Amino acid sequence: MQLIVLAGATGSMGGRIAQALRQRGASVRAIVRPGTHAKRLDVLRKQQVEIVEADLHAHHDIVRACEGASCVVSTLLGLHETLIDAQGALLDAAVAAGVPRFIPSDYAMDFNKVTPGLNRNFDLHREFKERLDRASIRSTSILNGAFMNLLTGEAPLVLFKIHRVLYWGQNPDQLIDFTTMDDTAGFTAEAALDPDAPPILRIAGEQISAAGLAAAASQVSGKPFHLLRGGSLNRLQRIIRITRVLTPASDAPFPVWQGMQYLYCMFEGSGLLTPLDNQRYPNLRWTGVRDVLRQAK
Ligand SMILES: NC(=O)c1ccc[n+]([C@@H]2O[C@H](COP(=O)([O-])OP(=O)(O)OC[C@H]3O[C@@H](n4cnc5c(N)ncnc54)[C@H](OP(=O)(O)O)[C@@H]3O)[C@@H](O)[C@H]2O)c1
Repeated sequence: MQLIVLAGATGSMGGRIAQALRQRGASVRAIVRPGTHAKRLDVLRKQQVEIVEADLHAHHDIVRACEGASCVVSTLLGLHETLIDAQGALLDAAVAAGVPRFIPSDYAMDFNKVTPGLNRNFDLHREFKERLDRASIRSTSILNGAFMNLLTGEAPLVLFKIHRVLYWGQNPDQLIDFTTMDDTAGFTAEAALDPDAPPILRIAGEQISAAGLAAAASQVSGKPFHLLRGGSLNRLQRIIRITRVLTPASDAPFPVWQGMQYLYCMFEGSGLLTPLDNQRYPNLRWTGVRDVLRQAK
């Protein structure tokens, strides 16, 4: 039985990946922060996930926690202190413990192809990738586009109240990648257990444009959804700059202006995932946009 070490298991993606790994019969050891409330660990304990409470910077403790693992999976979320410093400490410990493989906390569009400076969070992912590429460990970056769940949540794309789908730029047919968190977690679990997984795996539950989203929302709701153009990409860039200047500095990974940077990158299109690796694990089934929009009805 393979042992997978997971950092970030108390979070949305980490919890899902822990469950997906247990469903596949893997042993899971979760590294959680010291002092994590017992209630937050109940769900992991019920799934027979082993819990190790340790600070990721406590090198010897983390090396011990990584020993015997076939892969270390990270789903940490944060800014430089977390994605570079804490995740870097986890990486160093995995290498010192002789773990053969590492999956970084990416779960994004293809930030390797997005121009540096266009998205603050992608710049952090890219910085960590450079460090990972220099380390003596094999890695697999999971790229899934945007979480499809955001379509009925925070992403201001399908505007249910006014029956509009917002887009930016010239091209309402620009494809965008969406994958649910559950599908991403299932695929990540498969990749964690796959000794031959390559350095990058790209997945999308569905690639769909703003025009396609309008058609899907119309079909699912039975009411016509029309396109609403926010403006040019240059205009969106100006709004981002102004919002960033006016927003007080914070440690939040997703302030409003950062959300706008994601929107910019979606409609600019360079981070579109191709080719897709959806078929690598043939037992997986993919949730489509209509399935998710139906939940918002
Ligand atoms: N593609 C998309 O649309 C999209 C959207 C959202 C997120 N993501 C990506 O998905 C990944 C995970 O996000 P998520 O939504 O699962 O985040 P989340 O729910 O906030 O979970 C983050 C996890 O990281 C842990 N953590 C953060 N900083 C830490 C530190 N310094 N030391 C130890 N543990 C730390 C948290 O522990 P505590 O519980 O102790 O705080 C938590 O377990 C990230 O890579 C993120 O960029 C992608």
